[in-house]
Parts: sequence; C-alpha cells; structure tokens
Amino acid sequence: MTKDKESIFRSFHFVYIVTLVVGTTFHFSDESEYAVDMSDRGLTHVPKGLPPKTKVLDMSQNYISELHLSDISFLSGLKVLRLSHNRIQCLDLSIFKFNQDLEYLDLSHNQLQKISCHPITNLKHLDLSFNDFDALPICKEFGNWTQLNFLGLSATKLQQLDLLPIAHLHLSCILLDLEGYYVKENESESLQILNTETLHLIFHPNNIFSVQANISVNNLGCLQMTNIKLNNDKCQVFIRFLSELTRGPTLLNFTLNHVETTWKCLVRILQFLWPKPVEYLNIYNLTIIESINKEDFTYSETTLKALKIEHVTNRVFIFSQTVLYTVFSEMNIMMLTISDTPFIHMLCPQATSTFKFLNFTQNVLTDSIFQNCSTLVRLKIFILQKNELKDLFKVGLMTKDMPSLEILDVSWNSLEYTRHNRTCTWVESIVILNLSSNILTESVFRCLPPRIKILDLHSNKIRNIPKDIAGLEDLQELNIASNDLAHLPGCGSFSSLSVLIIDNNAISNPSAHFFQSCQKVKSVKAGNNPFHCTCELREFIQRIGQVSSEVVEGWPDSYKCDYPESYKGSLLKDFHVSPLSCSTALLIVTIGVIGLVLAVTLTVLCIYFDLPWYLRMAFQWTRTRRRARSVPSDELQKTLQFHAFVSYSEHDSFWVKNELLPNLEKEGIRICLHERNFVPGKSIVENIINCIEKSYKSIFVLSPNFVQSEWCHYELYFAHHNLFHEGSNNLILILLDPIPQNSIPSKYHKLRALMTQRTYLEWPKEKSKHGLFWANIRAAFNVKLTLITENNDVKT
Ligand SMILES: *[C@@H]1O[C@H](CO)[C@@H](O)[C@H](O)[C@H]1NC(C)=O
Repeated sequence: MTKDKESIFRSFHFVYIVTLVVGTTFHFSDESEYAVDMSDRGLTHVPKGLPPKTKVLDMSQNYISELHLSDISFLSGLKVLRLSHNRIQCLDLSIFKFNQDLEYLDLSHNQLQKISCHPITNLKHLDLSFNDFDALPICKEFGNWTQLNFLGLSATKLQQLDLLPIAHLHLSCILLDLEGYYVKENESESLQILNTETLHLIFHPNNIFSVQANISVNNLGCLQMTNIKLNNDKCQVFIRFLSELTRGPTLLNFTLNHVETTWKCLVRILQFLWPKPVEYLNIYNLTIIESINKEDFTYSETTLKALKIEHVTNRVFIFSQTVLYTVFSEMNIMMLTISDTPFIHMLCPQATSTFKFLNFTQNVLTDSIFQNCSTLVRLKIFILQKNELKDLFKVGLMTKDMPSLEILDVSWNSLEYTRHNRTCTWVESIVILNLSSNILTESVFRCLPPRIKILDLHSNKIRNIPKDIAGLEDLQELNIASNDLAHLPGCGSFSSLSVLIIDNNAISNPSAHFFQSCQKVKSVKAGNNPFHCTCELREFIQRIGQVSSEVVEGWPDSYKCDYPESYKGSLLKDFHVSPLSCSTALLIVTIGVIGLVLAVTLTVLCIYFDLPWYLRMAFQWTRTRRRARSVPSDELQKTLQFHAFVSYSEHDSFWVKNELLPNLEKEGIRICLHERNFVPGKSIVENIINCIEKSYKSIFVLSPNFVQSEWCHYELYFAHHNLFHEGSNNLILILLDPIPQNSIPSKYHKLRALMTQRTYLEWPKEKSKHGLFWANIRAAFNVKLTLITENNDVKT
C-alpha cells in the first residue's frame, strides 16, 4: 500500500469508528483545517473517538460539565477549542499538556469557580469570562505565556495584587466581566493592569454602578464599558472610576454601551471627559431617566474630535427642548453624530461653530432646522437622512449661510418642491446632494444648487426631465433610478454628465439619440425598465452594441423585453426583427416593385403570346370535356350515323375541305356533309334536318358569308325545334372570320343570341395556336359512340 492510500484508508477507518461511537459523521470543512463542529448537539460529555487530526473543535452550547485529559490529549494538532456556554465547574489546565499547539481556548459562559494552573506556552486567546470565579482566575504561569494577546476574565471582587502576574505582558485586549461584582463595605481596591490596548469592562445590566476599585492601565488605547446604570448619587462613583482609567495619554477611543443615566449625570460625564485625551467618544443605547434640567457646560479646550450618540430613549416627558439641545449645539468639536433619537430640533450655535461634520440620521427633525443660522461656517458634510423634512425650498434656504457645505444628504425624508413661484436659494459650494427617497417631482430640477456635481434623486416621483432646465453644467453623476420616467433624457442640459443611473423606471422606448447627445457619458445603467421590443428599439440596441460594454452597466442581463407578450422576459440582446417589417417606406417600395414586375409580365404575355385567347380556349376545352364525360352513353340514340354535321358557306369550303375535314377525320370522326351525303329528291332544308338528326353534334363554320347565304335555312328550324337551346351541348360554333354584330340581320334572333354568348371557337390565324384549337374541337367528341352505318352495320 502506498503512503497516500494508507492515509486515506486510515481516515476512512476513523470516520467509520467515530460514526459508530458518536452517531455523527465528522465533516472537515476544509481538508487542511480539520475542523469539527459539535456545537449545540445536547452533548453531556466530550464525545469519544474524535478525529485525531482535529485542529479546530467547536463544542459550544452543550451540557458538558467535565473535561478530562483522555478526552482531548490525543488531539495533538488541536489549535482551537471552543467550549463556551457549557456547564464546566472546575478545570485543570494540565489536561492540555499534550495539546502543544493549542492557541485559542474559549471557556466563557460556564460555571467555573476554580482552575488549576499549568503552562500552555502557545496560548494566544484565553477566555474565562462569564464564569463563577470569586477572585480573578490568574495563575502565576500566565506570566510566561508571552504569546497571549486576549484574556477574558470574570470576578466578583477585585484585589490588589491579582493582576500582578500578567502585568508585564503586552496584551491587545482584556475582557473583564464584572457582572457578579459586589462591593464590600469600606473597601477600596487598587488594581494595575499593564499593557493592554483594549479594555472591555462589562457590568451587571440591572445593578446601579458601584465598582469602587481603581483600575489603571498603561498604553490603553481603547476603552469599552457595557451596562452602566447610574443615578445622580452614583454619578460621582462612576466618574472617580473613570478618572484612573482615562489618565493615560494614549486613550483615543472610548465607547459606552447600554447606558442608563440622568441628564445631569450624562452632562457631568461629558464635562469630565472634555479635557481628557479621548478623540472618539461613542455612546450607544442611551436611556435618559428622571428629569432634564438646565446644566451648565464649560466648553474647555478638548482633543475630542467626534462624539457619536446612537439610539437614545428618553424616559423624561416634560422638559425644555432648549436645555437638551444647547449642550450639543455649542460643542467645540468637529464631528457630531446624533442618530436614532426622538430629537425634534437642533439649535443654531450661538458663536461661530467648529462643526465640520454633522450627522443627524433618523431623528424627528423638521425643515425649521438651522433656518437663518449663520454660525455653521465650517460645516462641510451635513447628513439629515430619515427625518421629517418636507419643503425643499426651506432646505435650500437653510444652506444659504453655510459657505463650506459640500455634501448634503437629505435622503429618506418627505421632501417636495411646491413653491414654484419662488426661486430657490442654495449655497454655491454644494457638490454632492442626496435627495433620494423623497416625493419630489420633475419640478426639483428648478430647485438645485448651481454647481452640483453628484446628484442622487433615486426613488422619487419624477416623470420627466424638463428640457428647459438651466445651469447644471457641472453635473457629472445623476442617479435617477426608481422614478416614473418614460423616456431616456438627452444630455442637452447636462453638458458634463459622465454617469447616469436610470434603472427601474418606466422607459419603454429609449431613443438611440441618447448616445449622440451624451458623448461624455462613461457609464449608463438603464436596466430593469419595461422595454417594448418593437421596431423603435432596434436602433437603441444597435447603439449599445457599438459602445463598449463597460459603458452600459448590467448589460445584457438586466435589459429585458416587457412587451409584446411573446418576448416578455427575453433579453434585449436576443431581440431581432427584419429591416423590412420595420420600415413602411421600404415595405411600400417592395410591394410596388413586385406589383410592377407582375403587371409587366402579364402585359408581355398578353401582347406577345395572346394569353386571353389561350385562357378562353383552355376554359372551353375543360368545359367541353366535362360535359362530354357527363353524357350517359345509353342516352345516345342508336339512330346516330355521324359524329358531326358540318354546315358552311361555299366561300369557306376551301378551309373546310383542307383544314377541318382532314383534322377531324384522321381522328376517326365521321362527318355528315350535306353535299356529300345528300339524299336526292328532298329539299335542302329536309336534307339538312336529316343530317342534323343523324349526327351527334352540329358544327357551324361562321363567317360573314355564312350569315349571308346559309343561316336562313336554320333560323326557322331552330325556332321550331328547341334542339339547340341555350348553352346547348350539341352545337359547335367555329368563328372563321369575325362577324360584326351589326352585320347580322335583325331577324336572326337565334344567331344574335348565340353570338352575344360568345360560346364560339375562334379560328386563330397563327399556326402555333392551331394545335390547341383542334384539341378543343376533338374534346367535344371525346365520347365512345356506337354509330349505325347506312346498311345497319354496327361500327364503333
Ligand atoms: C444617498 O443616500 C442613500 C441612502 O439614503 C444611499 O444609498 C446612496 O448611496 C446615497 N447617494 C450618494 C450619491 O451618496
């Protein structure tokens, strides 16, 4: 077995065993880390069979009450052990003697009362806070743990020499939990904690502050205190406690968290800290109790740069607002943050103020704030987010006397600009204005600071950008997302615009003109608009394809069709339509050209190939064939001797003898000619009638001659015998020469009727057409006939 395979086998083997013993599969989150998470599993003991390679073991939030050498001694690579929130009461540190690599040990939130000491040389982080220790659990061995940088401790009492063993260590943080601390009468302890950068003290949340000990720290840079409850009586105790801690020159950051105090005491604490070296003072979760009365405050020289007070609850209901606000408004510091408070106003400083940065986020301030206030001359950044501002005109007016103001944030208010008849006044120095999340309409463009560079107007109610707005030549960034804009604006009024954010509006047909008008724009974000994927959009999409993709932010994923229904949700990138369906002119031209070609073709066919004649012949041919087929053969008289009787004028006999007869007779069609089959002794008419009655069809060769000389024989006959009724089957009229309608004598009613019906076949002069002519005639005889010869032979 190779070494690799062996190790795989081994690890498989122990996972298998562990699964059996603990009932849980261990998963290493990362092969190299070997982390095992057994937190919150309801364990009462350290599980057996942990993977020996475990480096990080989390067993926090269980019910483990004891820890033995055998539980973890085999975890020779263990670096991190988390055991917080268990029930361990007593611990012998020697159980870690085989865990030479142990760096991080969290035993906080247990019930430890005692630990036995043993050196763990590599330990960096040891947390023993929130336990039941009486005195500080510090062994003299800790003094040798030179790697240690975090130490969490807890104690109910503090004694003079407790911290001595670690006094020389350079720690970065000490967490001291004094929740269980209680004062022993007439006892004033003094402790030295040397060399920690951060000290975090946690007191009991419900007990009035009463720690009497003097704790003094060298090199303290950051002090945090949590759970401070003070009444006027204990205020002095707290200040005395602070005085030792704040003595050093290095303390720059001081944070108080969860403070409940009177106004009087708060002012005293601030007053106490004022001359101290602290630069950044933060007070989070402040509750003011009892009463608020006027307190004097001396604004002595201070190194304090920034005071931040966040989340204030005021339990005092009747008080003078002025008393409260004066203390803050007169502060001689650069940065003041008062946020998430019930403050409804702030006073204008009486003398020229030092404020450069004011952040009044999430209070209840109205637009009467700082009206006619000319002392905030250094103010550069002013944040009034999430207040009750309503009138944009008054906001502009407020800035009038703030000559240094560069950034103003009045987002998340209820601002409107309705005083259209009054010109807005803004200080010229403003370059960044945040008006987002208000209820402004397009009229806002008439009330803006003149030199503005960055304007945030997102989430308002703007429906369009007026064309005639003047003087926003410096505007570089415009965020107008989440409004009701229906069109992409041009850059006519914004000659310097380089960033435009206009997503989430109502733009359906953005015009491609935008790209011409806004040459300087380096970034445009226009996604999530309800684009109408129709012809108008094509040019816009093409233009996007031309500009570089960095310019159009979110392309292509957030640019989708909203209409028509068939394209809904598909990307603009994938929308294609043919140029033809988009241009009416192109469409008309195309249809025109096709029509013209058709007309020319038809004309050519008609002129050169006599198309109408062919059509007529073809029509008659099909009709004749159909009729011939529909004649039931048994209806045909047995008496028939001929297929056809032909009548013609003497003048046309040349054509009949040389064209008609040869062409029909070669197909076996028997013809009755009255001169050939003449029965002597009978009149012409009798002979003709005899011939007609013995024939299947009658062919008349029509010509002006025929009308003159022959037709008289028939007109009477037709009048008496209705044999050749209109549209008759038995009659074939061949028009050899055209007969002008007026040359037919008016007594020939029948002939006139037949001529007007145009049911005759014209004899074509062109030879090429003769074939079709004969085919047409023959089609009329396309029926099987049984003819009787004159001697009664049956012939087919
Ligand atoms: C304006 O304020 C909003 C929040 O209120 C913030 O998200 C946005 O980034 C700010 N705009 C600018 C330009 O700073």
